[in-house]
Amino acid sequence: SEQWTLLAEVADISPDTGTLRAVLDGEAVCVYKVDDRICATQDRCPHGNASLAEGYIENGTIECPLHQGVFDIASGAPLCPPVTTPIKVYAVKVEDGHIYVRTG
Ligand code: FES
Repeated sequence: SEQWTLLAEVADISPDTGTLRAVLDGEAVCVYKVDDRICATQDRCPHGNASLAEGYIENGTIECPLHQGVFDIASGAPLCPPVTTPIKVYAVKVEDGHIYVRTG
């Protein structure tokens, strides 16, 4: 059966610029609010050692703060050099203001 883990509260995720980092099974997770939809990806940029939680959200994308690589938040797809590999995207559900990610 599906397994979901509580990750954060919707109230703690600020819109547009706000991102939040949480740790799940030892891996940092970045949570985003994109047009009122909650999304979650791995926090570490695969190009280097940057935290995407310190990047910039624009039009459903996240720009890495270190070399300005850009990913699509919903799909994890790399959109702009120097990033060429996708980031991991977590399945997310929201219930009563609690954000859960699928962990199994
Ligand atoms: Fe993210 Fe280089 S570390 S683009």
